[in-house]
Amino acid sequence: MDFIKKVLFSREDLLETAKRLGKQISEDYKNKNLLLVSLLKGSVVFMADLMREITLPCKIDFMSVSSYTGTKNNGGNVNILKDLNIDIRGFDVLIVEDILESGYTLKCVTEMFKLREPSSIKICTLLDKPNCRKTCIEADYIGHKIPDDFVIGYGMDYNEKYRTLPFIGILNPEYI
Ligand code: IMP
Ligand code: MG
Repeated sequence: MDFIKKVLFSREDLLETAKRLGKQISEDYKNKNLLLVSLLKGSVVFMADLMREITLPCKIDFMSVSSYTGTKNNGGNVNILKDLNIDIRGFDVLIVEDILESGYTLKCVTEMFKLREPSSIKICTLLDKPNCRKTCIEADYIGHKIPDDFVIGYGMDYNEKYRTLPFIGILNPEYI
C-alpha cells in the first residue's frame, strides 16, 4: 500500500477511542435528550462505532455538507447537500464529525442549528488539526489531535477514494 505514508491509528486504536468517548458522553448526557448528528460522509464509520458505545437511549440523524474539493478546503463555502430529517428543537444535539480543521464546516453547521432552537449543541470530533484553525470553533470531545497532514481511511477520503480502509493513515503526497 504505497499510497499510505504512515499508519496513524489502527482499527483497534479507533475502537478504543470510540469506547473512551462513548463512556464520557454516556456520563455527561444522563437525563438529557441526546440526538447524535453525523456529518456525512466522512464521519459515518466513527459514528457507527461511537453510537454503539453510548449506553443511553438516544436518537440519530445525518446531514451532508461539502466544503472540500480534493485536499483543498473551499475557504468557508459550505454547501448543504442533505438536511436533517428530525426537528432538533428541544434536543441536546451532539454533532459527530471526522475532522475539525479550519472550523468553517462546524461553524456554519452550529450557527444554522442554533436558529432551530435545540436545548444545547456540542461537538465530538474524531480528529482535530488545531494548527489549521481559521475560526473560533473548538470541539467538546476530541479523539486525537494530529498535525497538518492529509489523512485517509475509516470514512475519510481523497476524491471519494480510501473511505473503506479500516485504519487511518497519512496519504502519500505523491498520490495528491
Ligand atoms: P474544516 O471545515 O476545514 O474544519 O474541514 C472539515 C472537513 O474537511 C472534515 O469534515 C473533513 O471531511 C474534511 N477534511 C479535513 N481534513 C481532512 C483530511 O486530512 N482528510 C480527509 N478529509 C479532511
Ligand atoms: Mg467531513
